Amino acid sequence: MLESTNFTYRNDRLYCEDVPVHEIIREVGTPAYIYSKRYFTERYTEFTQAFNSINHTIFYAAKSNFNLNVIKTFLDLGSGVDVNSEGELIRALKAGASPDKIILTGVGKTPREIKLGLEHDVLMIKAESEEEVYLINDIARQNHKIARVALRVNPDVDAQTHPYISTGLAENKFGKSVDDALSVYAREKELSNVKFTGIDMHIGSQIVTIDPFIEAIERLKEVHRIVSSFDVHIEHFDIGGGIGVKYKDESPFTIKDFADAIIPRLSTCGCDILFEPGRFLTANAGALIVQVLYTKRNSYKNFLVVDGAMTDLLRPSIYGSYHHIVPVDIYPKREIKSYDVVGPVCESGDFLAKNRELQEGKQNDYYAVMSAGAYGMVMASNYNARRRSPEVLVDGSSYKVIRSRETFEYLLYDESI
Ligand SMILES: Cc1ncc(COP(=O)(O)O)c(C=O)c1O
Repeated sequence: MLESTNFTYRNDRLYCEDVPVHEIIREVGTPAYIYSKRYFTERYTEFTQAFNSINHTIFYAAKSNFNLNVIKTFLDLGSGVDVNSEGELIRALKAGASPDKIILTGVGKTPREIKLGLEHDVLMIKAESEEEVYLINDIARQNHKIARVALRVNPDVDAQTHPYISTGLAENKFGKSVDDALSVYAREKELSNVKFTGIDMHIGSQIVTIDPFIEAIERLKEVHRIVSSFDVHIEHFDIGGGIGVKYKDESPFTIKDFADAIIPRLSTCGCDILFEPGRFLTANAGALIVQVLYTKRNSYKNFLVVDGAMTDLLRPSIYGSYHHIVPVDIYPKREIKSYDVVGPVCESGDFLAKNRELQEGKQNDYYAVMSAGAYGMVMASNYNARRRSPEVLVDGSSYKVIRSRETFEYLLYDESI
């Protein structure tokens, strides 16, 4: 099963688009991330076409994959960027984003981040607490700016996803409750340098049913209706990201179904509808290629000890996430065996798959860990003083190394004795 049609086999060798994976890893080694530009393009186009009957803007959630070239790919398609930190803001600007296509998000923005957003005149800053609204107002006043602000409303909706990526329940740290949000909007006139231009939600990630979105949108519409009666003019109705994808056997809704379900609910609100998809656009564009260092068995299990680790792809370790794994070279005569695919890091939590049926592995074989384009490289770390992996962007029959493997000099550059 290969969810992305941009990774395919030809003569039993894995290709990304028209490039053999072997050609890439000969140059960059392993572990290495490979992304399909065609996939990014197709997903973005599918999304925006589904919503072409309403005013909408997609703000690619850079947190899912913040490589400059990935951001630029979406910018070239007409996307804006949703940034969650100063670092992502700098990346979006460096990739060429115009500030009026950037929205600044984050539950704990520092004064410095807010100031940077204001200096660059980003389209909108999303505030998640009353204190933050007042701080934005102060910083805007000191800098002679009027801040355009959206309040993130926590609609108290169960997104039915992994608890770590569920963000729209009352118990979560995100946003303000409906009542609290209303009382903040009501105070716009007290705020000399804040103009509320948006209303925002983001209820979680990897959501595979439409109902939680509908429930949350209905609550936000109610907030919008009341806020309008305060004479606050909302231009942007931001429904966040969170659209789920297929990793294993999930059946996520299609973007067309999503559009059909929510367009009738949004078309009369008179706002530009904003979306912040990350995973939907990137997850199945990418694979992490790893090489088998050793095979071994104990009395319970077979292990493939590979050169990729939790430091390269953390999702299995922190969320118990499933990533499909396929061999880079199919050997039809080899038997299928059950393996734990583990990395070299000194933690039992360092695994990429458990009890996985795979083509029998031999030392030096390569495997592709699929659906690794979102929340993969961006969560990579240097634990065990490991260098982070290179990233490669394939486009048809050519490819470009868009991030090289870290060097040890780079890892040591800010330390001295
Ligand atoms: C505010 C916000 N917007 C958008 C996203 C992107 O979510 P996803 O990748 O699930 O689409 C996130 C992810 O955490 C987020 O926190």
